[in-house]
Amino acid sequence: MDHSTMPIEDHYLIPSYSKLPFSVEKGQGCYVFDEQGNRFLDLYGGHAVALLGHSHPALIQAMVDQASKLFFYSNVAYNSARAMAAKSLVDWVGGDRQVFFSNSGAEANENALKLAQIVTGKDHFVSFSGSFHGRTQGALAMTGIRKYRDSSSSKVQFAKFGDIEDLERRLDGSVAAVMFEAIQSLSGVVTASKEYFQAAVKLCKNTDTLIIFDEIQTGLGRCGHEMYFHDIDINPDFVTLAKGAAGGYPVGITLAKRDLVKDLKPGHLGSTFGGGPLACALITKTLSILKNDHLVGRAREQGDKILSILKNTRHIHEVRGQGLLLGLKTDVPASDLIQRFLKKGIIVGGSLDPHIVRLLPPLTLSDKDISLFEHALREIF
Ligand SMILES: Cc1ncc(COP(=O)(O)O)c(C=O)c1O
Repeated sequence: MDHSTMPIEDHYLIPSYSKLPFSVEKGQGCYVFDEQGNRFLDLYGGHAVALLGHSHPALIQAMVDQASKLFFYSNVAYNSARAMAAKSLVDWVGGDRQVFFSNSGAEANENALKLAQIVTGKDHFVSFSGSFHGRTQGALAMTGIRKYRDSSSSKVQFAKFGDIEDLERRLDGSVAAVMFEAIQSLSGVVTASKEYFQAAVKLCKNTDTLIIFDEIQTGLGRCGHEMYFHDIDINPDFVTLAKGAAGGYPVGITLAKRDLVKDLKPGHLGSTFGGGPLACALITKTLSILKNDHLVGRAREQGDKILSILKNTRHIHEVRGQGLLLGLKTDVPASDLIQRFLKKGIIVGGSLDPHIVRLLPPLTLSDKDISLFEHALREIF
């Protein structure tokens, strides 16, 4: 393979993404390799997906084992991989919950919204300025079957993130659910205080408003806790997961409190591929590796090590986030810094804030990898 694959991709794909200037052909642990075999330390984790690093041998084995038993069967029949994945997820997230499987983060959120609408009978929602929850739009609005489309019309208000009075003004009893992205990653790793979230929960309770927590980036250990909502001591009605939940295999997960959804009828939700055996085998394996390798604590430890390095770094004025979801505020444009890191063989991410560089590395990040980052940082500045 040579350089010619990049123009081919440009020619045949609808131009939807700005691209890194190389083709990733191989991954191993925290590293990826381009066509020429150049190695890059991946502190962006393939878009926060490579929770366990790239091509983890135990995930490969789990995939091969499941694929050779059963590649796919839909939800019309029971399947042991699906049963185990759902049980492992509920054990991980905690509480008495039930699971719905889909294929992406956006779908996981759509299903949470839909459930909230069905169980409350209300069709207004509140979200927040700066939040990101996915790109699907209008798939249901385009659906010609009325019984499906009826539950999809939603009216959304956007509250100011972190401003409790603004949220209070919007919660008047007509809102089905509030959806939180508790650390707004794409906006530049914007956070709010524990007190804010706890006050928001009280407001929701007093106005019969359900709470949806989008933990697609913050969950599964990345922020140094099994789930971010554990850290801020709240108990959302719905939780959504995706990204690295199956180690890089596409999956969307919506968890709901059992008492909210236990009387749902077949037909309300559905997905052909959601809950497929391959994805499910990989979810169970991912969670068992996270647990057995103590990667949640490791995310916290490695995040703290990076923080202490950054504290003493010129041009870095603030570090946001926690664990291994970090936003570095710099006086250098983030786009320049990303290029400078690339020249040093390190992939870091940008955000919508032109002065924030994001780090979303695998939780398996080693001390040696952190030293490499530190060394590059010193050279760059
Ligand atoms: C917080 C959050 N929610 C939802 C999504 C959408 O996930 P997907 O791209 O898998 O649809 C993303 C993706 O980046 C995300 O970061």
